Amino acid sequence: MTDTELARADVLALRDGPIPRHLLPDSAATGPHGQLLVGGVDVTELAAELGTPLFVYDEDHLRDRCREAVATFGEGVAYAAKAFLCLEMARLAHSEGLHLDVATGGELHVALAAGVPADRLVLHGNNKSVDEIDEALAAGVGRLVVDNFAEVDRIERLVEAGRARPRVLVRVTPGVEAHTHEYTSTGQDDSKFGFNVANGDASAALARLGASSRVDVVGIHAHIGSQVFRVDSFERALEVLVAFAAPLDLPELSIGGGLGVAYVEGEWAPTIAQWGASLTNVARALGLRARLSAEPGRSLVASAAVTVYTVGAIKEIPGVRTYAAVDGGFGDNPRPVLYGSDYTTFAPAALDAARPRRVRVVGKHCESGDILVRDAPVPADLAVGDLLATPVTGAYGLTMGSNYNKVLRPPAVFVSGGEARVVVRRETYADLTARDLLQPGLAPSGRSPSGAVGSRPVRPGP
Ligand code: LLP
Repeated sequence: MTDTELARADVLALRDGPIPRHLLPDSAATGPHGQLLVGGVDVTELAAELGTPLFVYDEDHLRDRCREAVATFGEGVAYAAKAFLCLEMARLAHSEGLHLDVATGGELHVALAAGVPADRLVLHGNNKSVDEIDEALAAGVGRLVVDNFAEVDRIERLVEAGRARPRVLVRVTPGVEAHTHEYTSTGQDDSKFGFNVANGDASAALARLGASSRVDVVGIHAHIGSQVFRVDSFERALEVLVAFAAPLDLPELSIGGGLGVAYVEGEWAPTIAQWGASLTNVARALGLRARLSAEPGRSLVASAAVTVYTVGAIKEIPGVRTYAAVDGGFGDNPRPVLYGSDYTTFAPAALDAARPRRVRVVGKHCESGDILVRDAPVPADLAVGDLLATPVTGAYGLTMGSNYNKVLRPPAVFVSGGEARVVVRRETYADLTARDLLQPGLAPSGRSPSGAVGSRPVRPGP
């Protein structure tokens, strides 16, 4: 048995009781009928009103984690918007004093549309197009994180053509293992991101950028991976970065994001404050003079949300297992199928109920891999029509979701002080065809007036 399997066995043994409170949003409480309240709002009523699946975010929890990040790292700390981005979230993070890390022109667009000033934005990406860089320069982003040599050429050409000279951070790869899933490890030498320290690329990039009059190099950036529990992985990265950056004496050093969160029973993660304190201590001991900053995503938003589903079918296969099918699936949470991530469940109508029964929670997509929770603990009397929720779904669920099978993407609701407001509405059937261009001349039935189907040549749309 491997360490991971052992840990998993321990987790499974812990699941019989009620859902542990540390996996729920901060304001979660038990209502008068035993139901889940978040932000003072009855989640079962919210589900009845808005339908399911539904992402319910505790707004005060979001704000509290943003404040913790600002208190820990000070000016310059950024929210990694890829974890959960919509207009209200961008606005919330900005209003709490965070900068925003945006990784594409699309994320840049949303942040600007939310009214976040461009100088509070940091543009990332390992393959930024000329257009994306140009959009960022035209807007006047606060920092551009340079990832590769081709990008240096692009930036220089745009500045030569008249764009203002950007302040840049240089993304380096320190060559450390982050002890997380291969797909979310980014600090090892074998990575598509950044300039490797070990093979001299990082020094070459710094030399080139330092000599360029087209950019203003203000610091070094690294991001070793995501869902990292071990603070010593960050500390080792910091050692490499400080040794590398010391002779350059640049004013800024960002350690990126990556702090892990607890998803299931038996897991505990360091807080943002603990993470920051250990990094600050190591930085001080190493004599770092630059301003140390960070870019957390998941740790700000993951445990702020629960996803509420309705059970639509229960299939018992005697001697094999029981499936409980809900009205969402990997379209709203692809993490289990992508990374084998484990989640847990509880019934929002009976928050403190024991969960002695095991079912496999699956979605409604047409694939056997559409699994949300492999061994989900549920109350003994779970029945068709009941609500079932997965906690800790605030990060990388909605943002990585899809509408495969044309399953409508769920809404997100912020709750606080007894009030709920929809910040992302549910997708509609009209949204499903909003980007489709019909071949001119065909009747809506798919038949042309002459009766021939699809007989006309394909022409580009307007
Ligand atoms: N900074 C950079 C440059 C990043 O690439 C990322 C995440 C972050 C900050 C924020 O990392 P966080 O604090 O959220 O761990 N989809 C995966 C995670 C991918 C993370 C990508 N980059 C998952 O669901 O686990």
